[in-house]
Amino acid sequence: MNNNDILKQLTTERFGKTMHHFDSLESTNVFAKGIAAEGTPEGTTVVAEFQTQGKGRQGRLWYSSPGENLTFSLIVRPRLSAKFVGIVSLYASLCVANAVRKQSQLELQCKWPNDILYNRQKICGILSESIFAQGVLSSVVIGVGLNVNEKNFPADLRQPATSLAIACKKDFDRVALLCEILQEFESSYALLTDKHSPHLIERWSKLCPMFGREATITQDGKTITGIARSIGEDGQLILDTPDGLQHILAGDATHG
Ligand code: BTN
Repeated sequence: MNNNDILKQLTTERFGKTMHHFDSLESTNVFAKGIAAEGTPEGTTVVAEFQTQGKGRQGRLWYSSPGENLTFSLIVRPRLSAKFVGIVSLYASLCVANAVRKQSQLELQCKWPNDILYNRQKICGILSESIFAQGVLSSVVIGVGLNVNEKNFPADLRQPATSLAIACKKDFDRVALLCEILQEFESSYALLTDKHSPHLIERWSKLCPMFGREATITQDGKTITGIARSIGEDGQLILDTPDGLQHILAGDATHG
């Protein structure tokens, strides 16, 4: 895949029109944050065939074999108040899950706050990083790592992983998938405002099997357990615990 292959198949008006493709890069998120600060247009996309220091959530590394998967970052500049920034990851996972369904017929599940699963195995991770200027949200870099044609995963992964190729027993055209995902991001972009967040959350929640079940959230070594009730309009998880309802901003979730 290269810049020309992608631009030829792209159906969007804005997203992906400024495209940076690299054979190897430290991290698409790191590169995207740099150009976001320099004022690159909204919708700029950075794709790498291989990342030497791919970033996962909570300071972890994201490993992906060269040329097998999709590792990219999209720069958005939504008109969101700072308190609503958590909904960007929900928007991203909703868009990726919908685009993947269109290309593969697979029904994926969203896991709060920003994983996508197939059959309880992780198929995609999302890392959204926000840039603020004078307390106002100026850009968000949405980093997507989607396991497409990967067949082998390291033995020491925190949680079981899978790929589209394993799930469907066939390889996928990564350019077509990337273009579908960017189209979905662009078509659903109107959901990314304070006012439309309840609608976004309603759509995301339909793909999340966690509600009504016991969930344990871990963050910074602390765990909290309760029944997952819903997602607040700002993207926080509302957990029913023995100490009452708790609104949780971030963390790693496990649930039955
Ligand atoms: C996670 O589940 O921990 C999030 C993983 C996010 C990985 C993607 S790959 C493209 C983008 N660039 C990065 O360095 N990380 C994200």
